Amino acid sequence: MSKHPSGMRKGLANYGDAGFSLFLRKAFIKAMGYSDEALDRPIVGITDTFSGYNACHRNVPDLIEATKRGVMLAGGLPIAFPIISVHESFSHPTSMFLRNLMAMDAEEMIRAQPMDSVVLIGGCDKTVPALLMAAASVDLPAILEVTGPMITGSWRGERLGACTDCRRFWAMHRAGKVSEAEIAEIGDRLAPGPGTCMVMGTASTMALTAEALGMMLPGGGAIPAVDADRLRHAEATGAEAVRLAKDGGPRPSAVMTEAAFMNALRVLQAIGGSTNGVIHLTAMAGRLGIEIDLAAFDALGRETPVLVDLKPAGQHYMEDLQKAGGLAAVLREIAPMLETSALTVNGKTLGENIADAPPAWPQDVVRPVSDPIHTGGGIRVLRGNLAPNGALIKQAAATERLLKHTGRAVVFDSLRDLAERIDAPDLDVGEGDVLVLRNAGPKGAPGMPEAGYIPIPKKLAAAGVKDMVRISDARMSGTAFGTIVLHISPEAAAGGPLALVETGDRIALDVDQGRLDLLVDETTLAARRSAWRPPATLPGSHRGYLKLYLDQVLQAEDGCDFDFLRMHPRGGGAG
Ligand code: FES
Repeated sequence: MSKHPSGMRKGLANYGDAGFSLFLRKAFIKAMGYSDEALDRPIVGITDTFSGYNACHRNVPDLIEATKRGVMLAGGLPIAFPIISVHESFSHPTSMFLRNLMAMDAEEMIRAQPMDSVVLIGGCDKTVPALLMAAASVDLPAILEVTGPMITGSWRGERLGACTDCRRFWAMHRAGKVSEAEIAEIGDRLAPGPGTCMVMGTASTMALTAEALGMMLPGGGAIPAVDADRLRHAEATGAEAVRLAKDGGPRPSAVMTEAAFMNALRVLQAIGGSTNGVIHLTAMAGRLGIEIDLAAFDALGRETPVLVDLKPAGQHYMEDLQKAGGLAAVLREIAPMLETSALTVNGKTLGENIADAPPAWPQDVVRPVSDPIHTGGGIRVLRGNLAPNGALIKQAAATERLLKHTGRAVVFDSLRDLAERIDAPDLDVGEGDVLVLRNAGPKGAPGMPEAGYIPIPKKLAAAGVKDMVRISDARMSGTAFGTIVLHISPEAAAGGPLALVETGDRIALDVDQGRLDLLVDETTLAARRSAWRPPATLPGSHRGYLKLYLDQVLQAEDGCDFDFLRMHPRGGGAG
């Protein structure tokens, strides 16, 4: 037997007799109807992330067929295998709680089963990061295919996109401007087909940054789910996976290098991407021993303009970006700022892929560097006595006049407290106040839900207030907008300073200076700190995945990965 077994000979089940293990494996796989000739081919595994709960993955069966066709045409044997599928709206308590479980599932099933390379099919927010985290840890040759964005819907002549318009119309409904019947009609049209949210939310952000990272064939980030080009891209991905299997690489560790992560983070800024992208890229990098420095990310943002005019910060949708040339149109604009020598999965450098892309044509979705949407980065990093380990704000989606603001804190102690009091007619709150939500971080909620988009209190919304400064240790959907500070670290449940804020305190936000501060003297804070007690133990946290999660999950600046899954664990407990 070869020193480096391939195909069916890889990773045999242990029976104490390798010859018997192979004999038995072949006997069982023969029950699938394969010939010896088929079984002698390089094997390409394909992750099947279809689920009846996951509309964003509705086209996965079609993509698997197209990928298989590509594999067969190139002389390989495709074998699809199921792994967990995580959809944003069907994951209690929140999809982020399950991302690491999906990453573990994918990692172990890729490792356990015989394959020479793997095609990772994902799409919905957490699935792409989970798959790439797994690929980074296994380091088997791997290539990503995404389901692609949905096309837009329409309501009474108005173009609709999930989920920026979900939030916009829901806010109007809360303010009494959209009726019960109208919001039901809108709900029928917000997600009109298969694919991922079609604004610059987390799924779009991850698809585009994964292409920039080099883990996807060029041009795959923005093709709509229903476009025939999506199937052709999947077919080409299958064929490329055979080459990866035959050549033994490039492996994920050769593609996802520090330079590649810098490219991905720069693209994240240039596209006005989701704050969640920072967490996910950090987690992926940590699997390879690469540290993402928030200060470096902030510096990179200050020199990278936002170029892509997509909702929620702009006006267009992903299908418009595709018509404008896709990610290549962005990469071409910021090429002088990129590490163009970074290797990509097709064996070419990022610079070579940019040169191979079709030429630019007139369009109004990707702006030139000389005329950006926003000059100074989509996302800024904040620090201060409220966020010693950092916090983020998507300034491109914020209200300009609120980027420097001092206001009175109105504190909500938990998600439940928020739900119970935010719309109370007697809530003592004004337009200039700072809404504070805590115990909604990685451990606190748990799972760091996308609750950072704290609704404007109903009575203020009804009076026409559209935005307020809102701060939390939670995350926010990339499809949301507003002057919203997120990912405050350490989180309140881990004893971070956010736990010490009281209603009536003054909080100062200064995005230009990168500051978030609680204007309370140190003596008072020290007294509050010694009186602080951690929140009550979560029900069910003594066992199972919740126990593993709470024991291991790290804070936002470490990508909320489990400590023991990092290449270099931090040690000493998480968070
Ligand atoms: Fe799946 Fe938005 S819910 S991408």
